[in-house]
Amino acid sequence: MSARVLDGTAVGNQIRGELRPRIAEFTARAGRPPGLGIVLAGDNPGSEIYVATKLKSAGDLGCRTDLIRVPAAASLDEALAAVQRLNQDDSYDGILVQSPLPEGMGPEAEQVVFDTIDPAKDVDGFTPVNVGLFVQNRARLVPCTPRGVIELLRRSGIELKGARAVVVGRSDIVGKPMAMLLLHEHATVTVCHSRTKDLPSVVREADLVVVAIGRTAFVQPEWVKPGATVIDVGTNRVTDAAEVERLFAPDSPRRAAFVRRGALVVGDVHPGVSAVAGALTPVPGGVGPLTIALLLNNTLVAAEARLARRPAMSRA
Ligand code: GUN
Repeated sequence: MSARVLDGTAVGNQIRGELRPRIAEFTARAGRPPGLGIVLAGDNPGSEIYVATKLKSAGDLGCRTDLIRVPAAASLDEALAAVQRLNQDDSYDGILVQSPLPEGMGPEAEQVVFDTIDPAKDVDGFTPVNVGLFVQNRARLVPCTPRGVIELLRRSGIELKGARAVVVGRSDIVGKPMAMLLLHEHATVTVCHSRTKDLPSVVREADLVVVAIGRTAFVQPEWVKPGATVIDVGTNRVTDAAEVERLFAPDSPRRAAFVRRGALVVGDVHPGVSAVAGALTPVPGGVGPLTIALLLNNTLVAAEARLARRPAMSRA
């Protein structure tokens, strides 16, 4: 049997459809649209695509968007200055610094840059203030990818209360906040990582598996409990024809897509898992569209909170 497909594109479109009139209403009330500034440092090809999609999606819904480019060879101070300018400019409600930053900025750069973002404009939910509020389950701005996963599960009718959830990966962007959100939803949560002993047997316990480890087709069909829900956050670019042939059957449309384009985006979950799982997110078209929808949601939430905080006289 084949797993039910959890269609992130459809749910993402639904969320964006709900946001559109709210953004129009905000714009009428505030006399300006919600503003989103994205800082893109360097020329990472994956980041270029993600950022272009985020900007287009925000613009389509009626947000003001700006891309601030910082050259790959720039200093950390230049990236910080870009963030400070966005902090100080009242027309921006949301600031996003695309990760990863260029290696030349140093190993601590990302932390230092995220620490500099005004928490009221932190639409990623990565600043220490927002992470602290989030752990206490009282954050306004919550990391977009994990929040998108919860929204997909909720709208797909998948019960989380009391479920055994296993998160594979412990990044600050996905794994850790995912575990925390599942805990807030009353799941029993285990976080696995590269040093976990006997990972397959831990995954096999799970009613829900969320995989964000950045390794192509890592989670194998034998690891998954029959009927479990599997969320694949991975987006790995595969260019090796032999690897595509190992992963996909000769009649798979994905093989044909590879022949046409010379590359495929493959998740962290082996395609054979669809024969075992009860429900599974596709890659692409699973988690990606939800990350964007929740970014737009956070931009509106930040804009509304900032408008409400402004003294009434200055609104005239
Ligand atoms: N790089 C990959 N995912 C993300 C994300 O959600 N936010 C930012 N800022 N960078 C990313």
